[in-house]
Amino acid sequence: MSGELSFRAIHTAELPRFEHCTAIAFHAPTDVGLADRFAHRIELDRTRAAFDGGRIVGTAAALSHSLSVPGGELTSAGITWISVLPTHRRRGILGRMLDELLTDARARGEEVATLWASEGGIYGRFGFGPAATESSFAIDTRHDGAPWPLRPGAPDYTLQMRDPAGARPVLEPLFERARLQRPGMVSRTPEWWDERVLADHRGERGGGTDPRLVVAALANGSARGYAIYRVRGREPDATIVVSELIAPDDDAAGALWRYLCSIDLVGRVEAPHRPVDDPLPLLFPDLRRASVVEQRDSLWVRLLDLPRALEGRGWAADVRLTLAVQDERIPENAGSWLLDVAGHEARVTRAAPGTRPDLTLDVRWLGAAYLGGTPLTRLLAAGAVAQHTEGAAEGLDAALHVPLAPWVPEMF
Ligand SMILES: CC(C)(COP(=O)(O)OP(=O)(O)OC[C@H]1O[C@@H](n2cnc3c(N)ncnc32)[C@H](O)[C@@H]1OP(=O)(O)O)[C@@H](O)C(=O)NCCC(=O)NCCS
Repeated sequence: MSGELSFRAIHTAELPRFEHCTAIAFHAPTDVGLADRFAHRIELDRTRAAFDGGRIVGTAAALSHSLSVPGGELTSAGITWISVLPTHRRRGILGRMLDELLTDARARGEEVATLWASEGGIYGRFGFGPAATESSFAIDTRHDGAPWPLRPGAPDYTLQMRDPAGARPVLEPLFERARLQRPGMVSRTPEWWDERVLADHRGERGGGTDPRLVVAALANGSARGYAIYRVRGREPDATIVVSELIAPDDDAAGALWRYLCSIDLVGRVEAPHRPVDDPLPLLFPDLRRASVVEQRDSLWVRLLDLPRALEGRGWAADVRLTLAVQDERIPENAGSWLLDVAGHEARVTRAAPGTRPDLTLDVRWLGAAYLGGTPLTRLLAAGAVAQHTEGAAEGLDAALHVPLAPWVPEMF
């Protein structure tokens, strides 16, 4: 049947059908247990489904996140579960569901929305811009070429294997400290920790063993960093796949990488989803020991409330500019804004009528630049933004600058 479509949030009993629609759109096997596992993780009132008669033909959802931004955190809607059945594509179903979720997020007072895009061409039209980049590394550990020793004076870390089940209280404070250092990281619920980060995903994501957890601790027992990894393939040439390595202390990160690269009967260490500025290759005298096998966009950002989003982050340098912003889907964001940054704080007000803009840009590019990971000068070179005052893009870049590139360690 293909008649009048209707849109609404789903009930718990509809979760299996919601999941089934997603499985079809992503060409994944239907996972009968998934709905049960997700029942307490998904926020039902933040779901949207498109119904054709009684059948779910489109899905979308938002997660209530706190997003780390330079100097603090903002509330954000983490858009996820986007799917439309192949029988119903290109009829505006995605557009309708997304508009509803973004309107709801604005009503909740959330300053931004974020997502991971399955394809690069989908979300720009909805005002999302690519705000973070990630690198995937592969390290050849078969040949000679150990990492440099830890710097003189570095603490003497003990590496402890821990049982992932029940390890959350140890890992969570480290993760929260890391979130304060780097923009782009989103908060995790206890369920997210237990089911996504620490659970045994054998059979999924290319297989591998159950998760192994190693914690780097100081002599007094205080944990300073951790790595979660799985082992794929067989000895003597197994591959270690690092699903997460978090260490707010650089020395602890170095100790963990040295540990991972020294395990016996292993020929390769894979580290997908790492920050684009990860120092990993520089830990080796031969920096090609760790090579970048892929680099791609990760987090996309959409400003929902332009003035509150810009005022909600810390700034690196003073700047005073008029921005002419185009936003087809959220008219409240569109128009001319005066951005006045002084003493690390921004004030954003409507520009006086007739003020000549320094830069003209679509809201997607402001989202792309927002976390400091996509320079305006680069967008200018690509012809994505228009500059009317010499040096305006450079000035805005200096103000948006962040010491650590934005990164989000997990897909949601
Ligand atoms: C991507 C997907 C959700 C699009 O749903 P849809 O209902 O067909 O999209 P809509 O009809 O609302 O399209 C809205 C606009 O986006 C465009 N668009 C949709 N999918 C696109 C894609 N994959 N690439 C480029 N443009 C796309 C449409 O052409 C349309 O443009 P217009 O406004 O200029 O006419 C759907 O094709 C799908 O489920 N794909 C597989 C799963 C997937 O990739 N999900 C996204 C997860 S991040």
